[in-house]
Amino acid sequence: MIVSSWTIACLLALPVLVRAAPVTRNVLEKVHDSRQGAVIYELGEISYLANALYPKAVLNGTTIQSSPDFSPIAVIVANETTITGSYLESTIASYLAGDDVFSNDFLASLYLTSAVGKATIDRSGVDYLRSLELESLYLDSSVFGCKQLSNTKTYAVAGVSAENLPAGPYTAVTQDGALSLLSTYRLYRDEYRTFITGAYPTGNGEDSFTPLGYMDPRWWNPMIPVPSRIHYWNDSRPLAGVRVAIKDLFDMNGMQTSAGSQAWIRVTPIANSTAPAIQRLVDLGAALVGKYKLAQFASGANPWDWVDEQYPFNPRGDGYLTCSASSSGGGCSVAAYEWLDNAIGSDTGSSMRRPAAGLINLEGALPLSWSQDTAGVFGRDPLQWVKFAKAWYTPELHQEPNITGLTPLVVPDNNKFPKRIRYLTDYLPLANPAAEEILQDVLGKMTALFNMTVENMNLTSTVIGANIYPEKPANVSNWVYPRSRGNSYDQYTSVVRPLKTAWAALSGGRFPPVDPQWRSFVRMNDTQLDREEYNAGLRLKNQTVSWFEKEMLYETEDSCSESMFICDIGTGGLPSFREEDLNQGRNASFLAVRPPYAAITCANICPSFACADYTIPLGQVEYQSPVTFFPEKYPVTINMIVRRGCDFVLFNMIEKMAKAGILTTVKTGREAF
Ligand SMILES: *[C@@H]1O[C@H](CO)[C@@H](O)[C@H](O)[C@H]1NC(C)=O
Ligand SMILES: *[C@@H]1O[C@H](CO)[C@@H](O)[C@H](O)[C@H]1NC(C)=O
Ligand SMILES: *[C@@H]1O[C@H](CO)[C@@H](O)[C@H](O)[C@H]1NC(C)=O
Ligand SMILES: *[C@@H]1O[C@H](CO)[C@@H](O)[C@H](O)[C@H]1NC(C)=O
Ligand SMILES: *[C@@H]1O[C@H](CO)[C@@H](O)[C@H](O)[C@H]1NC(C)=O
Ligand SMILES: *[C@@H]1O[C@H](CO)[C@@H](O)[C@H](O)[C@H]1NC(C)=O
Ligand SMILES: *[C@@H]1O[C@H](CO)[C@@H](O)[C@H](O)[C@H]1NC(C)=O
Ligand SMILES: *[C@@H]1O[C@H](CO)[C@@H](O)[C@H](O)[C@H]1NC(C)=O
Ligand SMILES: *[C@@H]1O[C@H](CO)[C@@H](O)[C@H](O)[C@H]1NC(C)=O
Ligand SMILES: *[C@@H]1O[C@H](CO)[C@@H](O)[C@H](O)[C@H]1NC(C)=O
Ligand SMILES: *[C@@H]1O[C@H](CO)[C@@H](O)[C@H](O)[C@H]1NC(C)=O
Repeated sequence: MIVSSWTIACLLALPVLVRAAPVTRNVLEKVHDSRQGAVIYELGEISYLANALYPKAVLNGTTIQSSPDFSPIAVIVANETTITGSYLESTIASYLAGDDVFSNDFLASLYLTSAVGKATIDRSGVDYLRSLELESLYLDSSVFGCKQLSNTKTYAVAGVSAENLPAGPYTAVTQDGALSLLSTYRLYRDEYRTFITGAYPTGNGEDSFTPLGYMDPRWWNPMIPVPSRIHYWNDSRPLAGVRVAIKDLFDMNGMQTSAGSQAWIRVTPIANSTAPAIQRLVDLGAALVGKYKLAQFASGANPWDWVDEQYPFNPRGDGYLTCSASSSGGGCSVAAYEWLDNAIGSDTGSSMRRPAAGLINLEGALPLSWSQDTAGVFGRDPLQWVKFAKAWYTPELHQEPNITGLTPLVVPDNNKFPKRIRYLTDYLPLANPAAEEILQDVLGKMTALFNMTVENMNLTSTVIGANIYPEKPANVSNWVYPRSRGNSYDQYTSVVRPLKTAWAALSGGRFPPVDPQWRSFVRMNDTQLDREEYNAGLRLKNQTVSWFEKEMLYETEDSCSESMFICDIGTGGLPSFREEDLNQGRNASFLAVRPPYAAITCANICPSFACADYTIPLGQVEYQSPVTFFPEKYPVTINMIVRRGCDFVLFNMIEKMAKAGILTTVKTGREAF
């Protein structure tokens, strides 16, 4: 270090300006120091986590002395060669406005560097820095010649390039001769109890995650760590900084996969790799913030049948509404939290809804049915949701035809929209007339925007009357029965058999405790398996889908999918509750109700026919709550279904509808609109 050059041209001699009121900040109060090196502290009312085990950066500075204290610190990466007061002021203002992690409390200390090489701080900049009353100012010695600021401890430090240290809030800790900057996360309380655990990147360079073993003891809520948005402002990856929750069915390296079962946890090691579909999110820049609750092994269990876990709470309406089926923690978390952007879920027979069969690799996820499982994303903003889905679904991760039993997927991205809407009379109109009114309004706007027509169709009678299998009458059992046998084959061989075998070895031959809908499965044995029947089921599925894509949703010169189906996997605009008894009567509904004359539920159309099915929120209706005894609001959704592989064309339609104001971003909290 060339100490002699430090004092020149440093405006040391400037008189200290007369200032307004002294700066007040919350001081750090340490709450918890975990064995994994996670330091949890509070600044005022807000909790933070700092990763002390693997610092984000270590900067050398000869005069730095050791201190046991952790301290909040802001990092600014300048892009000007002359740093003025107004530049610093507007930079900090943009941090405060654009990020929920950063706060004025982080201006306790400041590290200033530059992405454009040598820079100087002009007089207005010096005045501004003084006005901050910093505890310490750290200046990158490769950038600044000026090394001292009167009345402020100033250190010249070296050791990290601007691109390896994104701007924003950090936690500082000092040792003799070094400043460590720790990755810092704001901790949010999961007040609707939608998560199993929060998680953050371990930071050891191995793409692994550390579960956050910390909860709010007053409210029994898991705490969820979210990174600063500022860190990603210069990151051009499509999902940079997008905060995502993951269904606890997918492996994340370093974390236990529970599948919603205590027994499964006991017999399964901590995952040592991340499922490819989830790793892709990481590669695209997404910030995975934790794993959320699911119905055990992704079954479609009702809320009152969740035994191992407590069913998550829904922020909408009276707070006692269902979150729907297996991906419920994800749906309700996205509905609840502004600090969360998206959640990844999966769908087999009805959950979050699904892309076309085969669109994304499901290795590293527990299967319900290898041939029918799909994965999708929940979001609030239709444009952001489309961008997310298009970035995520990539041909590299399409499934092999030997998994789906179908030809390889082709997924065009064009505007060859459907010409007709087929309004499925098996499932429509919606049971609640106020909800149907909303649907009709949207259909009217869609037909105008896309020059489409609406036609009624009874899918059940169409299928029954069709000649799907040349050698057999096309009765419902033909296309539903083998499929459900296929499901139980996969569930048994991939989940139940390994679970009960390992459990028996641990417990003197006992069967594992599982939620009610799995009890008969754990009693199953290999003699009940029929691989031939399973293969026959796959062949039948292929025939079913071939027929469907020839006669129902088919491709033409002008349309990826000549028509689109409209139907409802929900509850017809009637509320459905987490408490069984509240669903009795005409003013409420159970989930997954099959109309008596329909062969299958709407939710089973695409699992049977491999098509793409997305649930789109349209509006809300009022209901009289049997919980709050107040009028509350219930969201109305509809399902849009297109031919297998037309997912991106449907996304383009949704984007166009959003731009035309037909679809809007849903709000978080009690009311969606
Ligand atoms: C983005 O990069 C520019 C330099 O190109 C830098 O000045 C700016 O501070 C960076 N922003 C963030 C948030 O890192
Ligand atoms: C520095 O960044 C700001 C805000 O991002 C931008 O408006 C400005 O043009 C940048 N200046 C240079 C020299 O790149
Ligand atoms: C920082 O200091 C350590 C120990 O003194 C040294 O090994 C390291 O090379 C230094 N790093 C830089 C970037 O100066
Ligand atoms: C990862 O875990 C699997 C399954 O438990 C195991 O077979 C494999 O050896 C592990 N790999 C490594 C690198 O530890
Ligand atoms: C499917 O085919 C791929 C090669 O294309 C092979 O690696 C994989 O093991 C096959 N999977 C099954 C379930 O047969
Ligand atoms: C059904 O299988 C045949 C033979 O493998 C294949 O040519 C056909 O495309 C498949 N049908 C569908 C809908 O994928
Ligand atoms: C709308 O569609 C009809 C066919 O259904 C077609 O005859 C007409 O030209 C289309 N109008 C526009 C403006 O594209
Ligand atoms: C649809 O078709 C089924 C089977 O033919 C019939 O039972 C049912 O009444 C029809 N539903 C409607 C709404 O037309
Ligand atoms: C429907 O198909 C199943 C399975 O192939 C068969 O057992 C049943 O007899 C058929 N029912 C009718 C009404 O054709
Ligand atoms: C397998 O299940 C069948 C039907 O429940 C039962 O009859 C049989 O005894 C079981 N076999 C074994 C080995 O448990
Ligand atoms: C349904 O709600 C209406 C309006 O709130 C009420 O008048 C009616 O009694 C309710 N019916 C039942 C079966 O709860």
